[in-house]
Amino acid sequence: MTNAATAPSTASTDPQTREIRYGLVGAGYFGLALARAFVQLPGARIAVVHDPEHADAAATEFGATIAASAEELCQSDDVDAVIVASPNWAHHASVVAAARAGKPIFCEKPIALSYRDCTEMVDAAAEAGVLFMAGHVMNFMAGVRLAKRLIADGSLGRVLFCRAVRTGWEEPKPSVSWKKKRELSGGHLYHHIHELDVVQFIMGAAQTVTMVGGNVAHRGEEFGDEDDMLLITLEFGNDTFATLEYGSAFRWPEHHLLIQGTLGAVMIDLKNPGVTVRIGGTETTHLLHRTAEEDAQRAETYAGSAADGAIRYGDPSTVPPLWLTGIVEEETTYFHGLLLGNEPEPEFAALTDGTAARAAIATADALSLSLTEGRKVDVAEVVLATNP
Ligand SMILES: NC(=O)c1ccc[n+]([C@@H]2O[C@H](COP(=O)([O-])OP(=O)(O)OC[C@H]3O[C@@H](n4cnc5c(N)ncnc54)[C@H](O)[C@@H]3O)[C@@H](O)[C@H]2O)c1
Repeated sequence: MTNAATAPSTASTDPQTREIRYGLVGAGYFGLALARAFVQLPGARIAVVHDPEHADAAATEFGATIAASAEELCQSDDVDAVIVASPNWAHHASVVAAARAGKPIFCEKPIALSYRDCTEMVDAAAEAGVLFMAGHVMNFMAGVRLAKRLIADGSLGRVLFCRAVRTGWEEPKPSVSWKKKRELSGGHLYHHIHELDVVQFIMGAAQTVTMVGGNVAHRGEEFGDEDDMLLITLEFGNDTFATLEYGSAFRWPEHHLLIQGTLGAVMIDLKNPGVTVRIGGTETTHLLHRTAEEDAQRAETYAGSAADGAIRYGDPSTVPPLWLTGIVEEETTYFHGLLLGNEPEPEFAALTDGTAARAAIATADALSLSLTEGRKVDVAEVVLATNP
């Protein structure tokens, strides 16, 4: 896929003066965060908004018009590219509509809640020759990029094992967000697909997987129906392995990614933000985010909500913290740059055609099957069920 094929056709072809008119589908917590990041960029404008509940405020803020449906927004001649930030269950229809309208797409994570839906989305984007970037924003953390560089240049040796943990404790809530409902969000594993995606970026696609757990401590009207304890093993078929833990039934919150290679190891700590690299007898420390200020603010965020930590959720009334705004700036700058004709970076190739996001959901589907059927599952089983 070339940039020439994916860049929208706007009046000017000069990157200095070209304007990309974005359509925003979903103007809640994160749709607004993305839109505010995009409009900081030269040549970016939010032209049309669709949101069944929150369109008016967003349209006023961005000077945009309102579309009555995602389909109408995608078809609009005033839209060059589409940002999808609706609830997880609703992404599929908007992405397919945008692709069929020939518009490049930035879609929030998880791109969909099944491998089958992901495949339809990836195929629609490929057929239209448009970019389909997933909002897997963890890939834009400075610490994660550092770890990837150390793996790529051989400093860590062969990576044998990764451990990702994203756990906390959820208190009763007066009203239950869609994010806590399995059918709407996918639950912890799908909603927090970031860690699984990064582990697979590092280790390759998992081959055989297991998951145990369930809803062990959060039943009743003040909670959703998602599983609050998920314990995962991934086998990659070449004597390399990963384990992941997710959930909201953990009174001792943790959030980290540990990478163990034959020559060295990297601990990416997202709770006490920072990155520690051990190679040979030497240990170095690095920032997780772009600045010490962003790392310090992340530490404060977590300290201030020690009970729920990394399983805390925004809603349309909240504004993201500085560190999150920072990585959103990085990913929106990258996407917008591609539309203006910037050269793609090989590191992000599978992130901008939907295939990395689909690979993460394939593994999540296999894990879900493992949990419900109490057995080890080959990820190929999920893939073959859609593509026999
Ligand atoms: N990358 C990240 O770190 C990150 C962080 C937060 C949220 N997200 C993702 O962003 C997306 C939105 O989450 P959020 O936190 O903004 O949720 P939210 O509940 O704050 O906002 C969702 C918005 O979508 C609107 N909406 C509902 N149904 C819709 C539909 N069919 N079409 C269009 N809009 C619809 C709602 O009215 C609401 O304004 C989700 O996919 C979520 O996973 C990503």
